[in-house]
Amino acid sequence: MIHKIAPSILAADFANLQKDIEMVNESEADWFHIDIMDGVFVPNISFGFPVMKAINKHAQKPLDVHLMIVNPDQYIQQCADVGAKVITVHYEACTHLHRTLAAIREAGCLAGVALNPHTPVHLLNDVFKEIDLVCLMSVNPGFGGQSFIENTYSKLQQLKNICEMKNHTPYMEVDGGVNLDNYQKLLECGANVLVAGSAVFASSNPVETILALKQ
Ligand code: DX5
Ligand code: ZN
Repeated sequence: MIHKIAPSILAADFANLQKDIEMVNESEADWFHIDIMDGVFVPNISFGFPVMKAINKHAQKPLDVHLMIVNPDQYIQQCADVGAKVITVHYEACTHLHRTLAAIREAGCLAGVALNPHTPVHLLNDVFKEIDLVCLMSVNPGFGGQSFIENTYSKLQQLKNICEMKNHTPYMEVDGGVNLDNYQKLLECGANVLVAGSAVFASSNPVETILALKQ
């Protein structure tokens, strides 16, 4: 499978969102990565459903929604209603993860689980078949523009091992600090969805940066 690029809208110009959304539409990007933060699960607040709805109005590619919130179950239907195609919850925020994943699929979306840098991959073993996407956080969630945590490479290897053991291959997404210097090694280690915020939006030519990340 050719890998996917998901520019993170968190790094876009919020005063000119439509312009940045159109840039992504016209680029080689595959998904829009949408970071929802509640100021409780992570020490930052991003934006909520009215903004997601506005993004969805202009976006011509699937919305990959990353919920960095407590009690995500409460918001699954609402997320689907405003256009989410992938809904990713945090392992650390879900007491009944098996039930949450089923609810995401019932809402017609792909079910994703994100793991913080300190959370081992093997904790997903017993729900692995219920997962459509594993998001390995390569920074501590909450902010864009942080440096990539190198241990992510070995977590990708562990994730590949579980895929073989369980004979099930969810998308393998890496989120945080992804850039032109590390993306190739991430792909070699098995990643097939790369989220990139500042590497795309802070570059002088975002369309070309996206194209470079696709090579
Ligand atoms: C971090 C978010 C990321 C962030 C990535 O909590 O989940 O999606 O926007 O931004 P960069 O690519 O700048 O690290
Ligand atoms: Zn994210």
